[in-house]
Amino acid sequence: MESVFVADAPAAVDLIPVTPQSLETVLEERPARYRRWVRAMDFAAEAGELLRIADEAGDLEAVLVGHRSDEPLWMLAAAAEGLPGGIYRLDTQGLDAPTLERAAVGWGLGRYRFRRYRTDNKVEDRAARLLWPEGVDRERVVAMVEAIGHTRDLINTAPADLMPGELAAEATRLARAHGGTAKIEEDPQILARDWPCIHAVGRASEHASRVIELSWGPEDAPSLVLVGKGVCFDSGGLNIKPDSAMRQMKKDMGGAATVLGLAGLIMRTGLAVRLTVLIGAVENAVGSRSFRPGDVLTARSGRTIEIDNTDAEGRLVLADLLDRARELEPALVADFATLTGAARVAVGHEIAAFFASDDDWARALEEPAASWDDPVWRLPLHAPYRHMLESDVADVVNASAGGQAGAITAALFLQDFVPADTPWLHFDIMAFNTRARPGRPKGGEALGLRALFGALEKRFGRTG
Ligand code: BES
Ligand code: MN
Ligand code: ZN
Repeated sequence: MESVFVADAPAAVDLIPVTPQSLETVLEERPARYRRWVRAMDFAAEAGELLRIADEAGDLEAVLVGHRSDEPLWMLAAAAEGLPGGIYRLDTQGLDAPTLERAAVGWGLGRYRFRRYRTDNKVEDRAARLLWPEGVDRERVVAMVEAIGHTRDLINTAPADLMPGELAAEATRLARAHGGTAKIEEDPQILARDWPCIHAVGRASEHASRVIELSWGPEDAPSLVLVGKGVCFDSGGLNIKPDSAMRQMKKDMGGAATVLGLAGLIMRTGLAVRLTVLIGAVENAVGSRSFRPGDVLTARSGRTIEIDNTDAEGRLVLADLLDRARELEPALVADFATLTGAARVAVGHEIAAFFASDDDWARALEEPAASWDDPVWRLPLHAPYRHMLESDVADVVNASAGGQAGAITAALFLQDFVPADTPWLHFDIMAFNTRARPGRPKGGEALGLRALFGALEKRFGRTG
């Protein structure tokens, strides 16, 4: 974060947050030329609107930063993206500590770039930097910004460069950086025996599947299990996707990327939990070794699953992992998965749909989702729809006929692998911005991460 924040500086340009409502009052405290310039430039203080103001010598003196008072997180995002190199100081008048912290995170997110595949290597040596606003928890801000950046980077990486082996290496690196451990299972015979659904989904790929188990924290702390769908590329398998649907499927490991980012944040801020991250890393490929419609798999739990559609692969991967989670006697299991197109139809790309077996956890997401501008929306685990998953030959079928309530039936499928008394959250996410907004460029995105982190922090607290 060296190039994003600075601890002190001899001089800095003022960033003055304004809303359409506060503009007049703010201008009253400034030289008269400010008001004239605002008029001349037709500046209305709309969210994301910036007005640069020169001093009498013609140097940049201040920037009026339009924002919405109910979106503190994005207050400085457009400024971070759009302002020229230099050092800036936020005018913190009238802003409380939580607002300042969110504004600093938004500044960091506004500076996010994914440049791995750019050859023009334009180093941002004249980057815009923010003087740390007084009183913010710098470590927490940096941890949050880097967690989200990590998730975005993983999703944005080309699928050929982030197959199961690379995803496992990422988890190992992350665990080591925080004094945790990562156990990686990749032997195909062991996968076939111990992780039958994960093995079946990934077995046609030349990139061997991996089951990743990251562990961190004192063993006597409450057990928190995060489960991520790590489908490094989803062609659909033999039920192959049409080209337009396949185009985005590098992001089908977005659940894994989200739980890795969240895990980094949890470890770095030292939440008082015993953390386990479970990821099934596979490629759902087409080949003579592909699993088939009509095949019957026996899951890790012993349940038999008839394959109706090889493109409903994510729930198979999660089924084995959720069964492993059970053995860890969790205080909470939370899974993240780019599971269904139906969840996108229901809530669009920019809201994380979630399901909860536990009303308290569902409610606990509300406040952090709002204050961190990380919208989530609960969908029902409507048990009567279980009939859509009935198989003629096995215990359950992996995809329901009829195409109704696809996100719900997927969640009901998963629920059978979670003990009834285990608090469980299931996030069905897009993991991708299909349009750019300040602080949120097109590409990989960490949906639900901030909301869940806020709830976890409140429930479990920090060590020490
Ligand atoms: N990864 C996809 C779901 C997806 C598609 C998420 C687009 C986000 C955006 C998943 O593996 C899938 O293909 N699901 C199928 C399930 C169906 C076959 C029951 C779907 O949603 O169409
Ligand atoms: Mn699929
Ligand atoms: Zn998928």
